[in-house]
Amino acid sequence: MERTFEIAAIAGSLRQASFNRALLRAATELAPADLHITVHDLLSIPLYNADVEARGVPAAVEELRSAVRAADGLLIATPEYNYGVPGVLKNTVDWLSRPPEASALRGKPAAIVGASPGMVGTARAQAQLRQAFAFTDTLAMNQPEILVARAHEKFDQNGVLTDEKTRAFLAKFLAAFASWVARLATR
Ligand code: FNR
Repeated sequence: MERTFEIAAIAGSLRQASFNRALLRAATELAPADLHITVHDLLSIPLYNADVEARGVPAAVEELRSAVRAADGLLIATPEYNYGVPGVLKNTVDWLSRPPEASALRGKPAAIVGASPGMVGTARAQAQLRQAFAFTDTLAMNQPEILVARAHEKFDQNGVLTDEKTRAFLAKFLAAFASWVARLATR
């Protein structure tokens, strides 16, 4: 019997109507049968502070770390802020990378998606995230890439991904991610 891969997903946006959270919701529907995606939100993740860490890792961080450690792969939807990764997401990557000797990110198969109302659909933020993943040794899939540009035209008022081309491409992207995770699976 084919196994199912568990995927932890996070979007680097806290807002209710976030296109990136909406993209992850679409991903949960469009994923192939062997990929089960659980979306985690970042609302309770505090700012990284080594003093806080030394006193004890906050429960929300511990919960997310455990979920990422237990997952077979990580799916990240990044918005683009000022040509880069939003602080909310970078901060979460920083927490997940700690402690370095037991980093939840090390060796983790990952895939990056992103949506923005702009024309380049988070290309610069995605590139920046890949740079961070070089240090954390996170195995982000290189191809295919998905850049959802002009996002306001591709989701409806309820945050449903309605653009058929994007839905079809996201389904293909997730099938490729399933193969990536299977290729790297060690368990
Ligand atoms: C933005 N936005 C933006 N968009 C983009 O394509 N490139 C950019 O560099 C920026 N910079 C930027 C900075 C800041 C501070 C904000 C608040 C916004 C627009 C951004 O893509 C848009 O707000 C998205 O809707 C954010 O993603 P979510 O929240 O919809 O997932």
